[in-house]
Amino acid sequence: MLLLLDTQPGDEIIMPSYTFVSTANAFVRVPVFVDIREDTLNIDERLIEVAITPRTKAIAPVHHAGISCDMDAIMSITKRHHLKVVEDAAQVLCHLRALPKKSPFNDLLFTMI
Ligand SMILES: Cc1ncc(COP(=O)(O)O)c(C=O)c1O
Repeated sequence: MLLLLDTQPGDEIIMPSYTFVSTANAFVRVPVFVDIREDTLNIDERLIEVAITPRTKAIAPVHHAGISCDMDAIMSITKRHHLKVVEDAAQVLCHLRALPKKSPFNDLLFTMI
């Protein structure tokens, strides 16, 4: 992920506070944890914008336990702030079957199993 996103020391990656440690490890850069929603346990998209700083490089939504994040809201934020989106899809393998070969909304989508 380091090379793919061309991140530098000090760059920040926004991700949910509730996830597996591998989400943060994949980036090697500074994780900025954003609280999750009570209903889906996914990142709370309403709290993302206040976590963005000039060092923010990407947002890493994690689709928890087969439930998708609100990608419409997240994509709208990333477009406004010119950020990359890297989805952690480790917990949505069955869901992926229904997606086209290239996901329509992300820059990168990864699974690590
Ligand atoms: C959210 C999340 N990301 C990534 C992974 C994969 O981690 P690893 O490749 O270290 O096994 C998992 C595995 O459970 C996970 O739950």
